[in-house]
Amino acid sequence: MAKNSEDRFKKIIAHAKEYGFVFQSSELYDGLSAVYDYGQNGVELKNNIKDYWWKSMVQYHENIVGLDSAIFMHPRTWKASGHLDAFNDPMIDNKDSKKRYRADDLIEEHMEKLQGKIDKEVKKARKRFGEDFDEEKFLATNERVVKYKEQIESINNRLVKALEDENLGELKQLIDDLEIVDPVSGTKNWTDVRQFNLMFDTRLGSLSDDSNKVYLRPETAQGIFVNYLNVQKTGRMKIPFGIAQIGKAFRNEIVARQFIFRMREFEQMEMQYFVRPGTEMDWFEYWKNERVKWHRSLGIPDEYYKLYEHENLAHYANAAYDIEFAYPMGFKELEGIHSRTDFDLSAHQEYSGRKVQYYDPETQESYVPYVVETSIGLDRLFLSVLSYAYEEEKLDDGSERIVMKIPPFLAPIKVAVFPLVRKDGLPEKAREIINGLKYDYNCHYEEKDAIGKRYRRHDAIGTPYCITVDHQTLDDNTVTIRERDSMKQDRIPIDNISPIVWERLRENRG
Ligand code: GAP
Repeated sequence: MAKNSEDRFKKIIAHAKEYGFVFQSSELYDGLSAVYDYGQNGVELKNNIKDYWWKSMVQYHENIVGLDSAIFMHPRTWKASGHLDAFNDPMIDNKDSKKRYRADDLIEEHMEKLQGKIDKEVKKARKRFGEDFDEEKFLATNERVVKYKEQIESINNRLVKALEDENLGELKQLIDDLEIVDPVSGTKNWTDVRQFNLMFDTRLGSLSDDSNKVYLRPETAQGIFVNYLNVQKTGRMKIPFGIAQIGKAFRNEIVARQFIFRMREFEQMEMQYFVRPGTEMDWFEYWKNERVKWHRSLGIPDEYYKLYEHENLAHYANAAYDIEFAYPMGFKELEGIHSRTDFDLSAHQEYSGRKVQYYDPETQESYVPYVVETSIGLDRLFLSVLSYAYEEEKLDDGSERIVMKIPPFLAPIKVAVFPLVRKDGLPEKAREIINGLKYDYNCHYEEKDAIGKRYRRHDAIGTPYCITVDHQTLDDNTVTIRERDSMKQDRIPIDNISPIVWERLRENRG
């Protein structure tokens, strides 16, 4: 079962700071809200995740290539893409607490509470009826449950319609009708609902008038769209083909909480797959399945993932799925798979006045390709790995340890090498071993404290293999290799360290 709780989340955040994974940005000045820095171990984990995603997309697919486009783009990009007009969140303020919320979040949280009541009834009934309990029948017939389900459905219908129609008055009405109170002030003293654009802007050059206004990109995808013809022509790409990119994106999130889950500056890993019109739904299915498989390959159990089909679509999409992850605060969006039709390319064609059509040698037709997008937040993926990995273990000898069960191939440090004592030539031997390994693996040398303490420190950052150099090493060139999760130790020749680590890292990839 997935491990969720607020308490666990707090521990993970504290652990991430204590062991150099994630720090609050500008902590010295009391921090900058919803902006974070990655520390010495965090940056390694992040780079390993990026590397795995990049290889999975670009290296393992003949027809997907990479791109690194600039963060600043011509401002008309954002008019064409619809972000200037439609990249808004409906916000509402509580007049007493002066806190601002996303109106749809408040309503969704209300529905989650109703769902919580259903779950409670099911739990009670299961306890009462024991083995004879028929959950399906109970959900369909229990009066209270049926009433809650009807309420959820009716609220959801109103919410989806209000969002589709951009009917802010109806959103406010829903909040009033449901008697939603501000969690801080406890009052229902709300303002009207207003739209709030999420893009940051700044100015290019020295003039400070509006003609120089540029935006910090809110998604990396537009850099791919405006370069699609450049890449297609110079790479002689044939449809279907993809362009992948990893880079920073910026959103002025109002409700920015939950650590690195919702940030104002974050990183995306996106891939746009250009396809022949009419084939997009097949490719949409294909990429949905591929991405689920990819997540499974990380070695995190299946029950941590859930697919969610969007009813309320972004302005550019005609179909969308989220891959949700069981974070400590519940199931939340990790990755989006979107069918974006020809929305973006056609809009850029219109706004730029340049043709972005593709001549298909097979059908001998020119057309604007359709696009299927896979878009994952690197920071959210990082958080999923971190929150899955965190374990507090009671050991057989009664002691406790905190171990980060990070999939070994993603671990920040792969091999730690310890001389048993700081004398008798053992440190020199340990350094010699590191010198032989460091071109293949990120290694770490440690000689301070007793061996047990050194193991604990590396458990806490998720190092999968610890090598100990002892006096026997000097006689027969063997060392012990200790595996993080099982804590099992084997005696092996020094020459075998590299192939064994290589083998085990590959085995551990799901
Ligand atoms: N190009 C499509 C796009 O940007 P999105 O669903 O808005 O779609 C894609 O974002 C992914 O980016 C999300 O699934 C999430 O992982 C990540 N993401 C979005 N906003 C984020 C934020 N404020 N902080 C961290 N990650 C975020």
